[in-house]
Amino acid sequence: MSSLVIDNIGLLVTADAALGEGPLGPVRDAALVVEGERVTSIERAGAAADERIDAAGRCVIPGFVDSHTHLVFAGDRANEFAARMAGRPYAASGIRVTTEATRAASEDELRELARARRAEAARAGITHLEIKSGYGLEPETERRCCAVAAGFSDDVTFLGAHAVPSEYEGRPDEYVELVCGEMLDACRPYARWIDVFCEEGAFDTDQSRAVLEAGRDAELGLRVHGNQLGQGPGVQLAVEMGAASVDHCTYLSDDDIAALAGGDTVATFLPATDFSTRQPYPNARRAIDAGVKVAIATNCNPGSSYTTSMAFCIALAVRDMRMTPEEALLAATRGGARALQRDDVGRLTPGARGDAAILDAPSYAHLVYRPGVPLMATTVIGGRAH
Ligand code: NIG
Repeated sequence: MSSLVIDNIGLLVTADAALGEGPLGPVRDAALVVEGERVTSIERAGAAADERIDAAGRCVIPGFVDSHTHLVFAGDRANEFAARMAGRPYAASGIRVTTEATRAASEDELRELARARRAEAARAGITHLEIKSGYGLEPETERRCCAVAAGFSDDVTFLGAHAVPSEYEGRPDEYVELVCGEMLDACRPYARWIDVFCEEGAFDTDQSRAVLEAGRDAELGLRVHGNQLGQGPGVQLAVEMGAASVDHCTYLSDDDIAALAGGDTVATFLPATDFSTRQPYPNARRAIDAGVKVAIATNCNPGSSYTTSMAFCIALAVRDMRMTPEEALLAATRGGARALQRDDVGRLTPGARGDAAILDAPSYAHLVYRPGVPLMATTVIGGRAH
């Protein structure tokens, strides 16, 4: 088994409060040793290993854990984005445009498109990501999307209930039956999670509950898209059903916050979506102060958030959602891991995966302080530099 040391680290963020002062568990003047794929120790600078990366006094953070992406799709919706910037509102029906292009693409084409996006995400410091289906909306294309996603992540989410496709217009209940039956059977072998877009214009409470129950019966974990375009039942349903995460949470009522604070469901904020759809930003401060567990993710998708930049999301979370830089970094690392119910990623402590990002900066605060500047010097995934 070969070993790697990231040596001469000025500031190492372990994301483990037991290892340093404060929740980020910072260690100064450190060396991070990885054997095979796993972190084995944190030592003083100068530690030995087969391979050495010199961090030259810079800051090293856990690789970002992006717990919400729609990486598998074909086509482009730049015109829709431009129209939105000129005043047209975001509409969930745009999903169908991507569905048409995705259905027309072969599995190989979808794989190559996803590969390029995965590589872009790695360059942005994302070392683990969840990938949803949801642009096929019929059994074979959804299966194809899940199969492609499984080549890049073990956190694959079946999202047949993303939108009602045009051939089921006016017959949403029949479409839900298809999702819960044949489509779920086709996608189940590739997936760890099931998700539903519970929102006016997508799926209502009963339809969403039916999808989540079918997923639970198939032993999939539960995720929900909720409260994106207005107050809605998504958050309450997610908490009631014990979903791992409810994502968007742009509109949170006091009751939603109380429900989240009293349950285990993570509220995953997607600030680049609020940016790209001209929605208001959620007040994360209110949620955090109430004890809600939070994550930040990119929601990389062609309609509402075509970015792989977690640094951009962090900057928005601090500037516009009232999180501190420390909270935002934790939300994009440990928070993402929590939203995916895993403890092997999102932290740099012995036993965790050797997933790290070496910043071209002395401190993680530069992610916010220098917005838009590419600060990822090297991304290390499973002990290997990319
Ligand atoms: O998470 N909200 C639903 N799904 C995506 C948007 C998909 C699209 O517009 O293509 C989202 O924002």
